[in-house]
Amino acid sequence: RAFLYRLWKGNVSSKMLNPRLQKAMKDYLNTNKHGVHFRGKREARLSREELLCELRSRVHVRTLDGKEAPFSMLGWEKHVPAVPLSQLYPHGLQSCAVVMSAGAILNSSLGKEIDSHDAVLRFNSAPTRGYEKDVGNKTTVRIINSQILTNPNHHFTDSSLYKDVILVAWDPAPYSANLNLWYKKPDYNLFTPYIQHRQRNPNQPFYILHPKFIWQLWDIIQENTKEKIQPNPPSSGFIGILIMMSMCREVHVYEYIPSIRQTELCHYHELYYDAACTLGAYHPLLYEKLLVQRMNMGGQEDLHRKGKVTLPGLWAVSC
Ligand code: C5P
Repeated sequence: RAFLYRLWKGNVSSKMLNPRLQKAMKDYLNTNKHGVHFRGKREARLSREELLCELRSRVHVRTLDGKEAPFSMLGWEKHVPAVPLSQLYPHGLQSCAVVMSAGAILNSSLGKEIDSHDAVLRFNSAPTRGYEKDVGNKTTVRIINSQILTNPNHHFTDSSLYKDVILVAWDPAPYSANLNLWYKKPDYNLFTPYIQHRQRNPNQPFYILHPKFIWQLWDIIQENTKEKIQPNPPSSGFIGILIMMSMCREVHVYEYIPSIRQTELCHYHELYYDAACTLGAYHPLLYEKLLVQRMNMGGQEDLHRKGKVTLPGLWAVSC
């Protein structure tokens, strides 16, 4: 529990993690699978206001528009939605919820509060059915990783989880964001199922995040962290928070920074225990959380009891 109390105050380092997680982090640093070459400076001195302004000036949600090679040559311009993600809500949304899949949300009774927001973002295969009391049942946007599209166990083409929502998919690309290299060797080949789904469901908004957007978020996390972070993309959770901060005036994030219900149960919908789900191994999750903790404008009570962080939308901050 001591770790949790320090996390709430933003006062933790990777040295306080269990040896297994520390070893995993070190191995990822040494492997540098995505060829990350960080050119900036690492420090952690920006105030909440300065951090938000930094995000506001640098975070621009970007999705594949089919205009760059190799996608241009493959005729993707006519496959991607005509309306870009950033223009789906031209007048912006007022209040949004980002619901993490953490086991700690069980027994929270947050469902009603979550559904009261104008838009709700969920992740991957996280269900609402059977968990309404704790997680609500409204889903506006779902962020999915490339495994969801490619692993038959997820039934991407027929599961109702992926219907009647805005879909945003992503896959780890090289840090260079060379689209040709990525297209030839994605982590999981999401390109084929994406085009297939677009052809079968032309009216469903469905986007693939641009690798430049993902790595820009990584750069911002590293620039604002003293320690060397894992050279792997940020978690879907962090990506989702930033997408909602660019579309909404106010963002309420549930069970990202764990509440008093903190548990090693990885997901609320799955009987699987691993501390890495909450604290990170592959993803620089601990550092993402420290950054989000620094931007929280909600009270301590909300953080402890609900696991809720409140963030302003990027267009609602004045710089
Ligand atoms: O596991 P999955 O990526 O589907 O979960 C969605 C997001 O929720 C993660 O990317 C992570 O940011 C967050 N999460 C968490 N703690 C957990 C499980 C998920 O912070 N125990």
